[in-house]
Amino acid sequence: MLAAMLEIARRASLAISRLLGAPPRPSEPTLELPAWARVGGRRRAHIRRVAELLEHWADEMDVSRRERDRWLSAAWLHDALRDARLKGGMSHGAAAADRAEQEGESDRGVLDAVRYHSVGYAGWDDVGRMLYLADYLEPGRKRRAKQRAELAERVPRECERVLQEVVAQQIRTQLRSGRPIHPLTLEFWNSLTAR
Ligand SMILES: [Fe+2]
Repeated sequence: MLAAMLEIARRASLAISRLLGAPPRPSEPTLELPAWARVGGRRRAHIRRVAELLEHWADEMDVSRRERDRWLSAAWLHDALRDARLKGGMSHGAAAADRAEQEGESDRGVLDAVRYHSVGYAGWDDVGRMLYLADYLEPGRKRRAKQRAELAERVPRECERVLQEVVAQQIRTQLRSGRPIHPLTLEFWNSLTAR
């Protein structure tokens, strides 16, 4: 009840600032599934594991509270519409990013992390990169579980190197199955190897 009232107050304040042309205040971090999420139980469990892994890495890497909250916001938002019926051609990441922005999320790094989490994006800051890693390495994924656990363990010390290995693995998997490689994935890969 209180959460619903706070949500109404937040939306009203956003609407008023838009009407008055006032600059939006920095968005509050999303530290749980948003009310508009459409996810089943298994998906919810996956999202929770992604958030937990990011929290663990944030501790290990001693990042600021603000940065940690950015990572967690991206985690809770990224698959929020994974089980929703979406308009033809729209990815669940893009749908969730659009909805989060409508609801007041104004952090471009968080929105881009959510929008492109399935394919990768060369323009990401740390939020997108960490979400991409956690989505792939979270411990609930059964295929190559041991290798994923080893990679996850290395992230705090060798983030860049592990990211390259994960993207390479994703590309190899797609090539082996004869699927096309998304141009954004290729751009992402090239941006990692050019560093
Ligand atoms: Fe995910």
